[in-house]
Amino acid sequence: MWNEIDQHMQHWIREAGERIRDAFQTKLKIETKSSPSDLVTNVDREIEQFFIERIRRTYPTHHVLGEEGFGDQLEALDGTVWIIDPIDGTMNFVHQQRHFAISVGVFHDGVGMLGYIYDVAFDELYYAQKGKGAFLNGTPLPPLEKTSLDRAIISLNATWVTENRRIDPHVLAPLVKKARGTRSYGSAALEMAYIASGKLDAYITLRLSPWDIAGGMVIVEEVGGVVTNLYGEPLNMIEKSSVFVSKPGLHEEILAMIKR
Ligand code: IPD
Ligand code: CA
Ligand code: CA
Ligand code: CA
Repeated sequence: MWNEIDQHMQHWIREAGERIRDAFQTKLKIETKSSPSDLVTNVDREIEQFFIERIRRTYPTHHVLGEEGFGDQLEALDGTVWIIDPIDGTMNFVHQQRHFAISVGVFHDGVGMLGYIYDVAFDELYYAQKGKGAFLNGTPLPPLEKTSLDRAIISLNATWVTENRRIDPHVLAPLVKKARGTRSYGSAALEMAYIASGKLDAYITLRLSPWDIAGGMVIVEEVGGVVTNLYGEPLNMIEKSSVFVSKPGLHEEILAMIKR
């Protein structure tokens, strides 16, 4: 069953990518949601509807959780649930036309079975099937090796080391100092794909939704990476949460530094 779903999804996600690249030739309709920095476009909505139409036609018993609200209202992850972020990194999509991704996770009774992150501008598809390995455009991704903070590039948004509502900036500052380097890409999905493929070593953020991380979780775990909340606890994929993704070894080292 998962192989068959994967075959469909490999086609659908590349077709969706094509549609997004075509949209660069059109004028985007850009709106704001909860704040001036929370953007949404007609393309975010159209791509979510594109996936939902295909999923419902092919798998009428499956459920869909999507950022733009065209899916189902779900309170639990029973059965097969597609968790969809049609464009992760909408601000990058609007301002830069790169560094954004389609992110999809397919969960069964709460367990991540398939994960996809498609970097549309670079035409790079990261994907994984639970127990079958993770791939980038068909090439297997090797298992992640342990590393330490002084050799690590960690990804985090500068917000979390300034005054903010979610965390004392002094908690993460020592980590930023000790790390080899820090980066911020503005797409949680790509940041997870970069960990899975060894370009980054850890990613920390204080508030994400299930659709930001569902695809990445399956891919990262498949290569031996660790995905928890900031305090090392398992994520509840139906709620917003802090997120801490890391290579093995480094996960323990960072957790010891930020213990509450
Ligand atoms: C956002 C991106 C961003 C993260 C935000 C997310 P969106 O997703 O993943 O990197 O910092 O919290 O909301 O809204 O562009 O799909
Ligand atoms: Ca959004
Ligand atoms: Ca997102
Ligand atoms: Ca989005």
